[in-house]
Amino acid sequence: MLSIIQSSALQGIDSYPVSVEVDLSSGLPSFDIVGLPDSAVKESRERVRTAVKNSGFSFPVKHITVNLAPADTRKEGASFDLPIALGILCASGVLKSGIADDYFVTGELSLDGSVRPVNGVLPMVYGARQNGIKKCLIPRENMDEAALVEGIEVYPVHNLKEITEHFLGKNKLSPYSVDVKTLFQKKQTSDLLDFAHVKGQENAKRAMEIAAAGGHNFLMIGPPGSGKTMLAKRLPSIMPDLTFEESIEITKIYSVAGLLRSKSSLIHARPFRSPHHTISASALTGGGRIPKPGEISLSHHGVLFLDELPEFQRGALEIMRQPLEDGQVTISRVNGTLTFPSDFMLVAAMNPCPCGYLGDGNKCHCSMNEIVKYNRKISGPLLDRIDIMVEMPGVTYEDLEGIESGEASSKIKRRVLKAHGIQLERYKKEGIYFNAQLSAAQIEKYCSLGTKEKDMLRNAFERLDLSARAYHKILKVARTVADLDGSENITLPHLAEVLQYRSLDRKYML
Ligand SMILES: Nc1ncnc2c1ncn2[C@@H]1O[C@H](COP(=O)(O)OP(=O)(O)O)[C@@H](O)[C@H]1O
Ligand SMILES: [Mg+2]
Repeated sequence: MLSIIQSSALQGIDSYPVSVEVDLSSGLPSFDIVGLPDSAVKESRERVRTAVKNSGFSFPVKHITVNLAPADTRKEGASFDLPIALGILCASGVLKSGIADDYFVTGELSLDGSVRPVNGVLPMVYGARQNGIKKCLIPRENMDEAALVEGIEVYPVHNLKEITEHFLGKNKLSPYSVDVKTLFQKKQTSDLLDFAHVKGQENAKRAMEIAAAGGHNFLMIGPPGSGKTMLAKRLPSIMPDLTFEESIEITKIYSVAGLLRSKSSLIHARPFRSPHHTISASALTGGGRIPKPGEISLSHHGVLFLDELPEFQRGALEIMRQPLEDGQVTISRVNGTLTFPSDFMLVAAMNPCPCGYLGDGNKCHCSMNEIVKYNRKISGPLLDRIDIMVEMPGVTYEDLEGIESGEASSKIKRRVLKAHGIQLERYKKEGIYFNAQLSAAQIEKYCSLGTKEKDMLRNAFERLDLSARAYHKILKVARTVADLDGSENITLPHLAEVLQYRSLDRKYML
C-alpha cells in the first residue's frame, strides 16, 4: 500500500513542497528513509516507531520505505516525523487511504506521541496555500504563526492520537483562526526608552532623527560616557511604524530562526539587535549545518547596533559589506546557495582613540601611531557605507545640571513619520520604503540638484576626496533632510548639513 502526505522543507525564508511517500510491502520487516535525509531525519524512524506504539497502535511488521520527494535536495531537521507517522497509519489501513490527501502536515514527534513545535511554520503554511492546499495540521505551539496566513484552515494538534480520532470521525478537530488585521493594529504597549532623558548632544540627536527618517547607516564617535549607547538604545522610539508587509517578512525570518513561540506571534516593532563584539562572522551573517538567519537578517527592516565598533573582529565587519549593499545575504553551502533578506540600518558607536579621550581637552595620551592603528581596524570600504557620522563631545556639567529635559521621543517621531509618509507616497511604484534604498538610477530621478547646489557638491567632492559611493549617499541623505523640511527640492542648507556629516572620515581615518 502506498500513501502520500504533503509536507515541505525550508530554503532560506521560503519553503518548497516535499511529498512524503510511504510504501508498505510484505517481506523482511525494515524501515528505510530515502531522499537525501540528514541524520535528524534518519533518527525519525525511532521516534515514529515509538510514538505510533505509544499512541495505542501496533507498528506494522512490514517492509517500509519512505521517500522524501524531490529526492535530490537535502532534507534536514525533525519536521517530517508527523507526516511519516501519518503516512504509515494510512498505508497500514488504520486510517482510510487518501483521507489526509488535502492536508499539509508538519511536526516533530515525541516518544509518547505528542507533537512538538518546528521552525519555519509561517513560510511553510504560506507555501502550502500557494500550492492550493486548503487545510493544514501543525503543532499546537506554532498555531499563532500559522494563523497569520489567511485562506487556509489551521488545525493545531497536541498528539498523534488526536489526529487519528479526527480522521476516524470520532473527535473532530476545530480550526483555529485570528483576525490578522486587528492583531496588526494592536500595537504592543510601549516600554521604549525616551529621548527626553538625554541632555545636550543636540547635534547627535538631529543626526539620529535624519537616520531614522531615511533609514540611513549611522556612526557615532565620542569619548566614553558621552551617551552613545544611551542614544542608540532610544532609536526604536522614533523609528517609523512597520507596514503590514514588512511585519510579515520579519515574522517569517523569526519563524525560520525558531524565535517565535509567544502568544502573539506577529512582530509589530522594528527589530533592534545589538550583538556583543565577540560575535563570529557566521553568527552575524547566518549559516550553520541547518542554515539559520544571522544577526543581520534578524535586524531586517530594523536596526543592527554595533557598540564599540573597533572591538569587532575584522572578518566579521568585512563580511557585512555585501549585505549592506544588496539588502540580502547569500550563504554558500555544499549543496547550493541560500539567501536571507538583510535590509537593515547599521548603527555603530566607537571611541575616537584607544583611551577614548581624543579631542577632549588634553586628556588623551595616545600616540599618533596608536590612534591610526585603532582606527584602521575599521576598513575604508565599511566606512564608505556609512551615510551619517557624528562626533559627540563629552557631556558638560551645565548640560546635566540643566533642569530642562530633552525633546521627547513622541515629538521627534511625529516629524520622522511625516518625512517617512512623504517617502512612502513618492516611492509607491518603486517598491521601496526609504531614501536609503534608492538605486543609482532612482537617485538621478528623485535627488536632482540646482546649479548652485551642484557647485557646492563639486567643491566638497574635491576637497574631501570623496568616492562615487559617498556622492550617492550624500544625495540620499540630502533627500531625507529635505523631506524632514517638507521641501520638494534639495536646497543649499540641506546639502550643507549633510556634508557636515561626512567630513569626519578625513579627520580620524588617517
Ligand atoms: N547626554 C547625556 N544625558 C544624560 N545622561 C547621560 C548623557 N550621556 C551619558 N549619560 C549618563 O552616562 C551613562 C553612560 O552613557 P553611555 O551611553 O553608556 O556612554 P558611552 O556609550 O558613550 O560610553 C548613561 O547611562 C547616562 O546615565
Ligand atoms: Mg557605550
